[in-house]
Amino acid sequence: MTSETIGSTSIATVRERASEVHALQELSESRPATAAAPLQAEKAVVGDAPEIHRLIQYWFETTGDVLPRTEGEIYETIRDFVVVRDPNGSRLLAAGALHVEWRDLAEIKSLVVDPGTQGRGLGRIVVDACLREAVEMGLKTVFALTTTPAFFERLGFRISGVSAFPRKVWNECFRCPKYNACDEIAVTIDLRDRLNA
Ligand SMILES: CC(C)(COP(=O)(O)OP(=O)(O)OC[C@H]1O[C@@H](n2cnc3c(N)ncnc32)[C@H](O)[C@@H]1OP(=O)(O)O)[C@@H](O)C(=O)NCCC(=O)NCCS
Repeated sequence: MTSETIGSTSIATVRERASEVHALQELSESRPATAAAPLQAEKAVVGDAPEIHRLIQYWFETTGDVLPRTEGEIYETIRDFVVVRDPNGSRLLAAGALHVEWRDLAEIKSLVVDPGTQGRGLGRIVVDACLREAVEMGLKTVFALTTTPAFFERLGFRISGVSAFPRKVWNECFRCPKYNACDEIAVTIDLRDRLNA
């Protein structure tokens, strides 16, 4: 007796596999959906640079709340960045950088959340990750220069005078488009309690 085939596979085998697939589909449909994992910050990789650049560029052009960065600058400082990824795709939802300025001082820079996902705790996730990293590195103080001090105050920062920072911090101000009309406010957080914990 000759059996029917599709390529080198018999019709009987194809039917058997189809019924297995159908059974698996029914099983997965009958299971409750797994709860979505909470979004987390992770260290950026070089492949994130174009997306980070896109988000920074968006906010620089629409509100001017962040300073512009070239893609090259982002590659050079990619190890400063943490990102939050969309679990359903490759899109970045948020990013921010912790940049060491001195032995006891670091700055949070280029903090950006996707405009479609503001107000969902992503900015907090990025800043918390930067602060954890700062503590791991033994840094005593983290600051940011920001147009949204109220956001940072919600996260434990205090408004402070920028003159307290080393002159090195001002290097960037000289090339800022807002140099003559600066609207940024300095906010700092003291991490010494966390270092000793
Ligand atoms: C500012 C920004 C980073 C905040 O991120 P976000 O994900 O929208 O904020 P979150 O949801 O994490 O908010 C955390 C807390 O801050 C508060 N908050 C957020 N934005 C705020 C704002 N503009 N003013 C006052 N409070 C704010 C929230 O209500 C929340 O408070 P709660 O925890 O008591 O409920 C984001 O809106 C953004 O990318 N803005 C454009 C770029 C920018 O301004 N970057 C900062 C430059 S330093």
